[in-house]
Amino acid sequence: MLLNSKGLALILAASIAVIIGASLLLIPELPAFVFWLVPVICFGASYILINVVLEFLFFKELRNIYEMFEKIRKNDLSTIKPKRTYGHSSLNQIQQEIYSYAHVKQSEIEELKQMAKFRRQFLADVSHELKTPIFAAQGFVHTLLDGAIDDMAIRMKFLKKAAKNLDGLDALVQDLLTVSHMEAGDITMQFEPTDICEVIYEIFDQLEERAAKKGIDLKLETQEPSKILVLADSQRIHQVFVNLISNAIKYSDENGQVVISLAINKLKLDVTVKDNGIGIPPEHLNRIFERFYRVDKSRSKAQGGTGLGLSIVKHIVEAHGSEVKVVSNVTEGSSFSFELDLFHSE
Ligand SMILES: Nc1ncnc2c1ncn2[C@@H]1O[C@H](COP(=O)(O)OP(=O)(O)OP(=O)(O)O)[C@@H](O)[C@H]1O
Ligand SMILES: [Mg+2]
Repeated sequence: MLLNSKGLALILAASIAVIIGASLLLIPELPAFVFWLVPVICFGASYILINVVLEFLFFKELRNIYEMFEKIRKNDLSTIKPKRTYGHSSLNQIQQEIYSYAHVKQSEIEELKQMAKFRRQFLADVSHELKTPIFAAQGFVHTLLDGAIDDMAIRMKFLKKAAKNLDGLDALVQDLLTVSHMEAGDITMQFEPTDICEVIYEIFDQLEERAAKKGIDLKLETQEPSKILVLADSQRIHQVFVNLISNAIKYSDENGQVVISLAINKLKLDVTVKDNGIGIPPEHLNRIFERFYRVDKSRSKAQGGTGLGLSIVKHIVEAHGSEVKVVSNVTEGSSFSFELDLFHSE
């Protein structure tokens, strides 16, 4: 094909040589060899120059653009890399535009793929978690219907077990609704001045029996006067403390201690929930906030856990403009901390 850099350079260089040769005819008394030597030199020099310029400034860029289109057409966006450009020519700009466009599309496709994967995983996890209490309750009810109902002792025992599984199912569905609303961004926080010590003592009352059964001591430590007002959604913050304190009780051995410490730090309140329980192995630490994630599936399951508690905690704390940090050592215990905004009446 003639229309490449060499072909164009050939045509242009020949034209320049002809024009210069013709111009030489206008100059009188030139030696004869000048009429062929000068056009030949001009032809050679022009050919090389034009070829180099066209090749590097024009055809190479066009080939890059073409290659980029080929990759986009084949959906092979992952191999497109940003091109380093040394000039601001229109071709460079077009190439940059195409790259930015392809890059945006690539991110969108990746995000959609990720979301589809999440959805599939979420559905699989939800069905798995729902299946267990439903099957258990179903089993007890059917055994009763098949005749066990006539035995008074078994009747009560099985009904209680079925009820316990259904209660667990109810709690699971509530947690699932909270997580899915939070992930969809559907929940608006109702920030109000909240007495954090009151919230904590309320939860101590609520969980006292569970802690006492394991001989676990619940303690609030603070240097501050009894009332500490923070700006928070009191119901949701209540949920954060319930989840963290019940984890601390659940994942502690007998006679442990759960300590909540509150410390004022400028305009913030530092909150720490610390236990001296079983701890979390380091390789699990960055995953425990994922929904349905449990360190020891069998142990957590035996305790009725579904792995939603900490993901709810994470969402709520983030909606309060902070993040949950966790420090843990196996056998020494774990400590979860975050910040809350102190309430200041102007
Ligand atoms: N204080 C803790 N000490 C040791 N391990 C913990 C502690 N808190 C959480 N974990 C580990 O992190 C996992 C995730 O905790 P999370 O609260 O999300 O789920 P769960 O307690 O299993 O179930 P759920 O809270 O939904 O009833 C737990 O299964 C447990 O293995
Ligand atoms: Mg939990």
